[in-house]
Amino acid sequence: MSYLATPSTAPVTLSTLNKLKAKGEKFSCLTCYDASFAHAMNQAGIETILVGDSLGMVVQGHDSTLPVTVADMAYHTANIARANRTALILCDLPFLSYSTLSDAINSSRAVMQAGANVIKIEGGRELADTVKALAQAGVPTCVHLGLTPQLVNVFGGYKVQGKTDEAATKLLEDVQILQQAGAAMFLLECVPATLAKAVTESVAVPVIGIGAGVDTDGQVLVMHDMLGVYTRKPAKFVKNFMTDSTNTTGDITGAFAAYHQAVKNQTFPTDEHTF
Ligand code: KIV
Repeated sequence: MSYLATPSTAPVTLSTLNKLKAKGEKFSCLTCYDASFAHAMNQAGIETILVGDSLGMVVQGHDSTLPVTVADMAYHTANIARANRTALILCDLPFLSYSTLSDAINSSRAVMQAGANVIKIEGGRELADTVKALAQAGVPTCVHLGLTPQLVNVFGGYKVQGKTDEAATKLLEDVQILQQAGAAMFLLECVPATLAKAVTESVAVPVIGIGAGVDTDGQVLVMHDMLGVYTRKPAKFVKNFMTDSTNTTGDITGAFAAYHQAVKNQTFPTDEHTF
């Protein structure tokens, strides 16, 4: 099997995503952990691939993302980068791998040299100095806010965030501070749709959502979830595209293409998947 297919579309860059946001056109993102699935995602037109530290749960079988290492992230990113021709590759920096500026630079170096285009870190305004230092070093960041799985022990579980007026105001302030610091993108997980809409409209950079309603600029799902490969009860925001009637070929590439189309025409997520 060869992955050296000629790309049918130009590679997606941050500038592509900014243009899509300006036009009001939605973009798709899926988590991915290996070359074969990256190839299928390219075939289906998925615009952005997230090498998520969710690999700790869906690939390695841990109960949380906390055991994942920078070496794990670099390994999976390199496998994807060898096959990927068209998608922008986002890569998570794992738990406690960006607590100091020097850790953030070293961890970013490892995953970007493996093929990541953008690094993703979890937190709020406390990351402003990190985002600034990375931007100055030539590392674009996507900041993940709302339900940040690396803080599962602080939250006491995986719970919807930003439900009170106070929490919503803080999140809106956080994104302004982080945008000012140089964040290239945001990802919102498990927040009320009204808050996600307000955040998306308040920043100039693209915002990806998961469990955040239909109004964010892009959508992401964990690949295993949207293929119906569950080891635990799927979250409310998950839809199985493998068995969906819009998957016209009935195979995995068909599921990716059905998801991509549903994101583009805003038929996913619906109220059923939204908080
Ligand atoms: O690690 C991951 O897969 C993620 C998604 C849940 C957005 O961060």
